[in-house]
Amino acid sequence: MTARSWLALAPDPPGLALPDDLRDRDPLRGRDCGWVSQMRPFVRAFSRPGEVVFDPFCGFGTTLLAASLEGRRGLGTEIDPDRAALARERLRRHGVEAEIVPGSLPQARLPARIALCLTSVPYFGCDWRGEARAGPSPGQLPGQLYGAPDFAQYLATMRTIFHAVREALPDDGYCIAMVENARLGDRMVAQAWELARLLGSLFEPCEERVLLYPARGAASMGTASMDAASTGAAVADDDPARTDRSHEYALVFRKRRPALDIDGARALLRRLRADGHDLQVYGSFLPWLDADPAADAPPPSDIDARVDGDPERFRALLATLVRLGFRLSLWGDPVNADVRPETVRAHGYLRAERLQGDGRRVQLDLVPRDAG
Ligand SMILES: C[S@@+](CC[C@H](N)C(=O)[O-])C[C@H]1O[C@@H](n2cnc3c(N)ncnc32)[C@H](O)[C@@H]1O
Repeated sequence: MTARSWLALAPDPPGLALPDDLRDRDPLRGRDCGWVSQMRPFVRAFSRPGEVVFDPFCGFGTTLLAASLEGRRGLGTEIDPDRAALARERLRRHGVEAEIVPGSLPQARLPARIALCLTSVPYFGCDWRGEARAGPSPGQLPGQLYGAPDFAQYLATMRTIFHAVREALPDDGYCIAMVENARLGDRMVAQAWELARLLGSLFEPCEERVLLYPARGAASMGTASMDAASTGAAVADDDPARTDRSHEYALVFRKRRPALDIDGARALLRRLRADGHDLQVYGSFLPWLDADPAADAPPPSDIDARVDGDPERFRALLATLVRLGFRLSLWGDPVNADVRPETVRAHGYLRAERLQGDGRRVQLDLVPRDAG
């Protein structure tokens, strides 16, 4: 794949594009269908022949078709059964028997080990005319994301799905998501940045590639046409703050455990204990606590610690960490030192991460013990 950070794309030739009769059967008339030419370079560069390329939002099967044309095995999940049927028919016309699991992660069971996740994500605020199957509360029942009632629920469901993708990927496997910042009425919704933040809490960020599409109005557009098309927003010539938004991003992430600054981690623990904070270290940092282990122990990427669950003492620990340059988050969402221990327990752990100007980082995953 070219080392250039942007790719100029051309619409698929008629032989590969979504056929008109299938497009006509879709509630969005296939407006959110991507291009095979958009996916193929990523399939080639990030997977090997014979491996399984997985698309958790497989829509019309564009990624699956690209995978198959590159000698890989395409596998997808799609929540909308009508879309899945369209994808199956499209792929059948190419002589490919589609492997599409109905539904959504994390409930859907994948029948094979995946090597790469490659997808165009569903857009928030899409004018969805199909059946909305949104879950009753954020993060519980992942539903049709096009029907998500608000951005918080949309992001919570996305996180649940990408968390399951992370579980399914092997170590070092890539997760590549195509997304754009989109206009919703008069408002710019920074979906690409939000998704990057969310993916950054699950994977290691590697790169982004900018995908450039022909100017709007081209006969066939990829997912980059979603925002204006779905809102009906016209691009005013006299507004210099508005563009035709004919690009999107391929966000490239990898399942990797980022390196921990071991000396910095030891120094931090000494400092916190000297200040009277009670941390009970467990997990992969334990063998590294005082000195490098003699035996082969995998280098830790964080410090797992159980800490005092008393609200005041918990708050004091978090306030100290903030003073020492740590950012606090719950499942990727920033929180401050006032977050309650029970809120943290409901999420499993609180992450405190300090990234220094020289690139070194220290991360703690803290579990407050039950106060009683
Ligand atoms: C941008 S489209 C994907 C189009 C696809 N890349 C293609 O070009 O053929 C996003 C798809 O995600 C599906 N979707 C939305 N929410 C979902 C969920 N929770 N799980 C699985 N699929 C979902 C939508 O029905 C839609 O088909």
